[in-house]
Amino acid sequence: MLKTSSKKIYVKTYGCQMNVYDSNRIKNLFEPKGYTETASVEEADIVVLNTCHIREKAAEKVYSDIGRIAKKRNKNNSSKLTLVVAGCVAQAEGEEIKNRAPLVDFVVGPQSYHTLPAMIEDNDKFINDEFLQNEKFKNLLFKSSDKVSEFVSVQEGCDKFCSFCVVPYTRGSEFSRPVQDIQSEIQQYIDSGVQEVILLGQNVNAYHGKNKNDKSIDLAYLINTIAEFENIKRIRYMTSHPRDMDESLIDAHASNPKLMPFLHLPIQSGSDHILKKMNRKHTKKQYFKIVEKLKNKRPDIALSSDFIVGFPGETDEDFDLTMQLVKEIEFVIAYSFMFSPRPGTPAFKLKDIDTSIKKARLSALQSLLKEQQRNYNKSFVGKNIEVLFDRKGRHANQYIGRSIYNQSVFTSSKDNLIGTIQDVPIIHSTNFALEAML
Ligand code: SAM
Ligand code: SF4
Ligand code: F3S
Repeated sequence: MLKTSSKKIYVKTYGCQMNVYDSNRIKNLFEPKGYTETASVEEADIVVLNTCHIREKAAEKVYSDIGRIAKKRNKNNSSKLTLVVAGCVAQAEGEEIKNRAPLVDFVVGPQSYHTLPAMIEDNDKFINDEFLQNEKFKNLLFKSSDKVSEFVSVQEGCDKFCSFCVVPYTRGSEFSRPVQDIQSEIQQYIDSGVQEVILLGQNVNAYHGKNKNDKSIDLAYLINTIAEFENIKRIRYMTSHPRDMDESLIDAHASNPKLMPFLHLPIQSGSDHILKKMNRKHTKKQYFKIVEKLKNKRPDIALSSDFIVGFPGETDEDFDLTMQLVKEIEFVIAYSFMFSPRPGTPAFKLKDIDTSIKKARLSALQSLLKEQQRNYNKSFVGKNIEVLFDRKGRHANQYIGRSIYNQSVFTSSKDNLIGTIQDVPIIHSTNFALEAML
């Protein structure tokens, strides 16, 4: 039975920004029940592990964390602690979690976690892994925010079925929230001072929500609608798929000054042969075409990507094509991973390549990406750039924000800069950040 006295909830988030968003919603769901957040497992009455299944390492980490929590539970004799596994491991492994980790009390998937308070209260059901996107969003709670920048989930799920990826199975099919629901969530954040929204979706540019006239609209329309909020100064979106990068969205980068000139557009590999085996449904040439159109509309746009190295069948020549593409596109940042065979995906059955080869390729790619990022950051020294400051740094009077190109920028000031947009001169750069002098 959930008591309404002061109780504590601890939520640990693994994986992507969508999970960060979901973790915030889970905390919000328990607030009316009298729960406040704690950063310590020892203090918690409910522990929620909001998990990620994307690579083997991420999924296995959950089980070692469960083991550690279980030990604490025995040591403190705190059998009252309720242990919940949520997120993509919950969806993918479901009932099996009970066998591997009998101490887990409840399992909820990413599209059914709104039922968690009732599941704990009624205590008659171990698992809810249904795909209830519509019902979920209707039952979530959106509280005010103490941040300058907030994530807003606008799209969920994926219909692309890349051969390596678990997301279509863990998050379900593509679903878009209606415009009015998104607007009212953003209005709450504006009321508490939020100035930037980052629109989230596994394939955010596949957004096709309904407007108030029940007409299906695309991401560009949604962005333009959100830009009408005077207090929203900046809009970003992630993650996009090249196949859904349509003309209206490319145009929005030129016509909407609130849309930031930064785009995370994963390509995964520079080899058509591998792209085909990955079932990406686009070629390198098509990707270049999108980049060309974007740069025609917004020449300064900064591009980012994800890469998988060591996909089954990737030869040295395929990998060289990836390295070549990174240089040609001049990505300013990118995330790269060794292929991890995931059960249930088509690529799981393919012959995995040697780990030492994967490691060597990852290291070469990451050095190149780091060098490009360093050079990109260096090119701003001596110039001014517009920054939205959103938090305090570790040092006294230090403030940190994001440039329009999504770089981290720090500076010192006696005035409180949080929530201000400043055009700041850059005096120094590192691989990962810029330093400004006010
Ligand atoms: N929807 C996005 C897209 O289309 O690229 C992001 C999906 S996923 C959450 C983030 C990244 O994880 C992917 O872009 C891919 O690079 C990586 N990833 C997914 N499955 C993987 C696997 N089995 N092994 C290694 N990396 C993987
Ligand atoms: Fe995964 Fe591909 Fe869907 Fe991205 S587009 S979530 S990589 S299946
Ligand atoms: Fe992981 Fe699920 Fe996100 S698998 S990356 S938490 S969509």
